[in-house]
Amino acid sequence: MYYIGIDVGTSSVKALLVNAEGVVIKTTNPEYSFQTPKSLWAEANPLDWWKATQTAIKELLLTVASNEIAGIGLTGQMHGMVALNKAGNVLRPCIMWNDQRSHMECDEISKKVGYENILKITGNPVLPGFTAPKILWTQKNEPDLFKLIDKVLLPKDFIRYKLTGEFFSDVSDASGTSLLDVGKRTWSSEIFEALGWPISWMPEVTESTEPTSTISVEAAALTGLHSGTPVVAGGGDCAAQAVGSGIVEEGKVSVTLGTSGVVFAQSDQYRVEPNGNLHAFCHAVPGKWHLMGVMLSAAGSFQWYKNQFGLEEQKIENEGGANAYELLTTKASQVKAGSEGLFFLPYLSGERTPYPDPYARGCFIGMSLRHQKKHHTRAVLEGVSYGLNDSLSLMRKLGVDPSEIVLSGGGSRSALWKQMLADVFATPCAMVNALEGAAYGAAILAAVGVGGFGSVEEACNSFIQKTETIHPGSDQEIYSQYYPIYKSLYPSLKNQFAQIADAISINS
Ligand code: XUL
Repeated sequence: MYYIGIDVGTSSVKALLVNAEGVVIKTTNPEYSFQTPKSLWAEANPLDWWKATQTAIKELLLTVASNEIAGIGLTGQMHGMVALNKAGNVLRPCIMWNDQRSHMECDEISKKVGYENILKITGNPVLPGFTAPKILWTQKNEPDLFKLIDKVLLPKDFIRYKLTGEFFSDVSDASGTSLLDVGKRTWSSEIFEALGWPISWMPEVTESTEPTSTISVEAAALTGLHSGTPVVAGGGDCAAQAVGSGIVEEGKVSVTLGTSGVVFAQSDQYRVEPNGNLHAFCHAVPGKWHLMGVMLSAAGSFQWYKNQFGLEEQKIENEGGANAYELLTTKASQVKAGSEGLFFLPYLSGERTPYPDPYARGCFIGMSLRHQKKHHTRAVLEGVSYGLNDSLSLMRKLGVDPSEIVLSGGGSRSALWKQMLADVFATPCAMVNALEGAAYGAAILAAVGVGGFGSVEEACNSFIQKTETIHPGSDQEIYSQYYPIYKSLYPSLKNQFAQIADAISINS
């Protein structure tokens, strides 16, 4: 018996075949691209995701027979708007989570529903990344197309529609729409009424372990799956990633160093950060919530730095030598903590937590003639670590007090970065055996949904074990002096970032 977890990501779909003991038997990762037709825009063709999903499933089924698949769990990039007409056809490219075009629409929605009210109902202010302002942008800018909308789906739920012919979503993914009553775990009729939109656009929303529908005869023919195989609701990628790292009990916290960086705390209660600076979303664990900070360029900052300034290291890697990231971090580890006063602000694509500001930008600050490339490398890693600590500090103020933080994502492969995080957080960090992220969480949700386990907690206890603990070391003291300086830099530059954005728009 096997489970499949499918993660409809930003640049690829990742599909995993997992056996009944939680061992990953096969992974596949077909890629696709997204488009940036204008500055601040990010769009993708949902049919590209569907084609890649079919390829991924067919590849997994080269290893096992389709009637051995007990269940499929879905996860994916959150917040995207996939609009369908009455016939179920896609009306326009998906406006994605990293699209920042709709900041004016955020203000409009907040005014219509009331700022305090929207924070109370949805746990969050309306942000340009979220779904509702994208719908309002479409209403204002593409009125003819808007009139044809019959369904609004999140990315993974579009794939569910193609796999099963049915419309469902789950509470964790739906939390990122600004349309869910997050405390009550149901669509908010009050918000739909205030915006004048029909609630019938939305799919039925369930808990993440609910077996919502089954593989249709049509999808079976396209993928090789057995028709009737259960498809479990699944979760947004952050919640599924947390399930896949075992963050399913009160007080547990994880940090994911992917392109974006996520600080995630499980919560038994619905708690909202009073200024809306942290996301308060439903968890993929039934009846639970989570607090979350999202940094837009975490390991993405290091990738940008490697691509632009690590040409020498990339050449060595391409010629069969060591990995370019490793070459850079080995040099950076020769530099003392604090990079001799060099700071990096990691706001390369604007920021979300703790500063919801599309105009914030990256900077190196404090350069002197002493600073070499290795200092800059270390400063990038430190800047991202301080940025993640911003989210953690907000959580600590709400009473979240983790005894340990589970690290995951590509960046956590670096020994230097792992130690730096333990030092900056002043908290032990841990690694677990499950490294496949959100797709693994989706497979766990599938296992629970089809009755392989009594609960998500039980499945995680059985599948996930700790493999390493990293204790804070002597650099903790140095970082406690540098972090407040980092924290003071964005507020000093905020106005100048807005002026730079104005100058660019006038001159472009
Ligand atoms: C979460 C978020 C991203 C996307 C893409 O709020 O915006 O993590 O889900 O992965």
